Amino acid sequence: MSDIACIDLFCGAGGLTHGLIRAGIPVVAGIDVDIACRYPFEFNNGARFLTRDVGDVNSSDLNKLYGDAKIRVLAGCAPCQPFSAYSQRYDTMASPRWPLLYQFARLVKSIRPEIVTMENVPLVQRHAVFDDFVATLEQLGYRVWRDVVDCTKYGLPQSRRRMVILASLIGAIDLVAPTHKKPRTVMDAIGALPAIKAGDAHDEDSFHVSSKLSPLNLERIRASRPGGTWRDWPDRLVSECHRRESGRTYPGVYGRMEWNEPSPTMTTQFYGFGNGRFGHPEQDRAISLREGAILQGFPKHYAFVPNNGPIHFKALGRMIGNAVPVTLGETIGKSIISHLGLVARTTPIEGKVFASSPYDICIA
Ligand SMILES: C[S@@+](CC[C@H](N)C(=O)[O-])C[C@H]1O[C@@H](n2cnc3c(N)ncnc32)[C@H](O)[C@@H]1O
Repeated sequence: MSDIACIDLFCGAGGLTHGLIRAGIPVVAGIDVDIACRYPFEFNNGARFLTRDVGDVNSSDLNKLYGDAKIRVLAGCAPCQPFSAYSQRYDTMASPRWPLLYQFARLVKSIRPEIVTMENVPLVQRHAVFDDFVATLEQLGYRVWRDVVDCTKYGLPQSRRRMVILASLIGAIDLVAPTHKKPRTVMDAIGALPAIKAGDAHDEDSFHVSSKLSPLNLERIRASRPGGTWRDWPDRLVSECHRRESGRTYPGVYGRMEWNEPSPTMTTQFYGFGNGRFGHPEQDRAISLREGAILQGFPKHYAFVPNNGPIHFKALGRMIGNAVPVTLGETIGKSIISHLGLVARTTPIEGKVFASSPYDICIA
């Protein structure tokens, strides 16, 4: 029997789950509609993956998964596209993904887990669905902590700000104090990875693979300096859309990262040189899938596809770019552990699968 058990709604490839496990929270299952997430989720975390629409999940499904755990944690990061800066220009209410936070709230109402945690983009707080989610928690008697978290303050080598909710039926809960005064940098994170060429994969890690560059984009990246923009290029390399006034609002598109700064925010298309400042600081290519995953806090060995399995940039970019950074997941996990007054008996080892909780529970 485990004293504590967590279920991760919208679990994806397991960024949040992996961080929670590293903090010592046993995750028993993850639920997601994307079957491609099954392999990385199960292989790296030893938890069950249920290919289900969260909208079809009910309280008895969750209670079976929790078993007789004394502390039930319900975690989740509903798809954030409806709230992203990009989608603000569209009628996001029309998105079929809009009600998913309401589905999360429905499950909280029906099982009243001791702990709830949610992560999303900061813009979520401008929408009624967010206020409704918090109001539901408060009406149910939860003590709610919520804030926008700067992930660089917890050791993520990436500029990324995220709204985090921690809620507890046991008492007041908050996020542990920041751990890093000086942000970790791109150099700290990926500086030691072996060099590869655009379009190539490394012999010993097929996931350290970068997308191909057209001859024009190869010239462009050669003309780019770390932290610069397309304005550094000779005129003949600048595209028409950049010349137009509207293009002026995207000076960061096509650029190189800087070694001594955190990376820009990873998106689902970080593997493309033309999709943001995703050029490698000195090699003439976009960052590799492995580099993107490491910048999202995934450990170097995290397996996203089986050995020699096919690499689909689009699907894998989505899994990695959409993930809750493992570092943030771990911070959330440590906050829950500290809140519960859990005392570690063993230190969780990276990549190790929990059979049961390594913790004694002693609720203060
Ligand atoms: C922001 S990502 C979650 C990332 C994940 N928490 C992580 O840390 O790796 C949102 C996920 O929701 C999944 N999703 C979208 N609609 C869903 C639904 N109706 N039911 C279950 N999962 C859904 C997507 O496949 C995607 O993996």
